[in-house]
This record gives sequence, C-alpha cells and structure tokens, in this order.
Amino acid sequence: MKKIFAANWKLYKTPKEARDFFVNLLPRVGETSGELVFFPSTICLESTSNSLKGSKVQWGAQNCYSKLQGAFTGETSAQVVKELGGSYVLIGHSERRSLFGESDALIADKVEAAQSVNLIPMLCIGETLDEREAGTTTSVLQRQLQQNLAKAHKNGALVVAYEPVWAIGTGKVASPEQVAETHKAIANILEEMGFKNTNILYGGSVKPENAASLISLQHVGGFLIGGASLEVESFIRIAKN
Ligand code: PGA
Repeated sequence: MKKIFAANWKLYKTPKEARDFFVNLLPRVGETSGELVFFPSTICLESTSNSLKGSKVQWGAQNCYSKLQGAFTGETSAQVVKELGGSYVLIGHSERRSLFGESDALIADKVEAAQSVNLIPMLCIGETLDEREAGTTTSVLQRQLQQNLAKAHKNGALVVAYEPVWAIGTGKVASPEQVAETHKAIANILEEMGFKNTNILYGGSVKPENAASLISLQHVGGFLIGGASLEVESFIRIAKN
C-alpha cells in the first residue's frame, strides 16, 4: 500500500502563506515517495485547490458537517470540498472531540456524509494518557472504531489515523513498540469489522528525527503530521522516508 504523508495545519497559515508554501513545496515533490495530502483551515481551501491544480499532491478539509447543505451557520459541506477538488476530509480529530464536543455518533454521521460525495474520510482515533495508563487503550479504540464507522461503507475508501491524545503537540512521541502493538490491534479490529486493507496512519509529534523508526513498522501506512508539517523542509524530510 502506498504510504500517505498528511499535513494537518490546524488554525495556522493565511491563504497567502499557503500559496507561498506550495510554491516552495511543488518543485520538491519528486524527492518524496508516497502520497502527500494537505489539510489547511477551511478558509485556505480555495487557494490550496488553485495552488495544487495539476499536481499529484492531494488535499482535504479538517472537518465537515454531517449534512451537505441547509441552515447550519458556520459549518463546512463535504460536497463543497469535493467540488473544489478535495479528496479527503479529517474526521474526529481529538481537538474536535475535546474542544468542540464532537460525539462518536456525530462523527459517524460525518463519515457517512463524506463517503456519500466520494471524499475519503481520514478518521482520527486515539486514547488519552489516563486511558493508556489504565490499560484500556484497545477497548477505547475498539469503541471509537465501532461507533464512528457504524454507517461507513465496508468497501468505501477510508483511512484511519491513530493519534494517541497524549502525543499530539506535546513532543512525546509513542515508542516504536507502542505504535507497532497498537497499529496491529487496530488492523485486527478493522479486519473483524469487515474493513479490508485500510491504511492506518500514525500521528502525534512526528518529526524528521523520529519518522524513520516508525515508518518501517508493520501496519504503519504513513503519518498525520501537525507542527512539523508547517515548514516545507521538515515536511519533506519526513516524507522522504
Ligand atoms: P502534532 O499534531 O504532529 O503537532 O503532534 C498531530 C495532529 O494533531 O494531527
């Protein structure tokens, strides 16, 4: 399976900064292998679409609503993302769950909405530090997968990003042993649920310095990168792996 190197820009970069980033990135895409995917903030999607037109680089939104249109002030439609040329949408990022109160049921509806317009949902799951220390990591991930994928097509395009909450933006990356063990558990759960060959990315403090030790692990299909994706140089160094 092709490795995916996905950049989650969160609420960073203006449209101009996004354009400047891609001007510097595009001549260097040949240095990387695998698929590159960018998730800029919603207001930068159109400039991203224009910048990446005709290139192999994919992009998507960081969130979408569960309905494609209607009286939903402030929301983002998966249909519009698709029309602009997007391929993916991040769903259920831990910041959406913890800061914006997204429930497992809402996330399931969002996955369904994304697949209905042929956007690939990149579903984010992960345990908190308390859950890991209590030994409940696998059951937490199993619950998230079962509830979040309750309405997903078994044969539809889907990517899962495993992001331990305690590793996001903290500089504390999961160890290769933890990543190997957890990715294996996720692959088994997905298999049992009838989702075949799902690409499973790792996310949480991925940096050029730790990427090589993680990318070669079995069941690691690539990375979802936050902080280290904001600079062309560090993103390229990670995606060269
Ligand atoms: P980080 O963020 O790489 O800065 O830890 C990852 C993410 O939130 O997707």
